[in-house]
Amino acid sequence: MVGCKLKNLIEIESLNREDIECIIDLALQFEQQLKGGVDNVKSKCKGKNVANMFFENSTRTRFSFEMACHNLGVRIFNFDTEKSSITKGENLSDTLENLWAIGINGVVLRHTKVGIIEDTLNHLKANISFINAGDGNRAHPTQALLDYYTMVKHFGSVEGKNIVIIGDITHSRVAKSNIELLTKFGANVTCCAPSYFQDFGIAKVKWSDNLDGCLKDADVAMCLRIQNERITEKIPLDDYIKNYQVNENNLNPKTLLMHPGPANRDIEVSSKLLDSEAGLTVLEQAKNGVFVRMAVLDLILGGQK
Ligand code: CP
Repeated sequence: MVGCKLKNLIEIESLNREDIECIIDLALQFEQQLKGGVDNVKSKCKGKNVANMFFENSTRTRFSFEMACHNLGVRIFNFDTEKSSITKGENLSDTLENLWAIGINGVVLRHTKVGIIEDTLNHLKANISFINAGDGNRAHPTQALLDYYTMVKHFGSVEGKNIVIIGDITHSRVAKSNIELLTKFGANVTCCAPSYFQDFGIAKVKWSDNLDGCLKDADVAMCLRIQNERITEKIPLDDYIKNYQVNENNLNPKTLLMHPGPANRDIEVSSKLLDSEAGLTVLEQAKNGVFVRMAVLDLILGGQK
């Protein structure tokens, strides 16, 4: 394995194939090491301090970064946005300078604002590394990495695989980071969505509004939740469910069902399918998130000057 150096992880675009392969190799090593217990983990970042700063709600990302830090011997501090001095008017940059002075080395940041990390880095003196845990509708790089890790474990490689991403593509940072990553590795990505969730500005993919047609040859069906928190217009929900729900009637048993979570049962995916064997991959994704986030943290914090 060729070693790779990361200062921050903001978006998939900044990683080349070798960087991604390096993260995946290290995640595989951590998965193996954890089978022998947490004391078996070879961490390069033990003793570092990380702040989890979530300005948007999260279950999987926040908890798996916490678990990843505990597994690596990194101390993680959950920043309570509602109880912080940001509510008294302190800006994010000043908050971060102070967290650095207190001893924070890395920040896992989720925020509604696209590009918040780049904007902050432009005028930050603190030597803090950032991991983007989702910024608005733009990027969620560790989700794409864990999705890729899950696919690699199932298929070995995604080259030539037909990956269909279904639903609210427009408002999904998960879709955008996945498209960027999967096309780097030669996957055929199709976005399947009704017209109100299509965005032809997203390059490198095919577009379709025909779910049955897309699912016919799909190796992976990745369902997306409707991102209601980013939508003002009214969605015709009954029509959406009828035409775009993935369920036991339209999913080929050979197709790998994936969902980044949180799932809205019986909307984008049926409960029956989610509770069947096909739904197990969704929990596999959550589990794999820990190994992948360990790798990202170890490369970033372990290489910090
Ligand atoms: N997939 C994902 O980002 O889930 P959370 O919002 O629960 O972190």
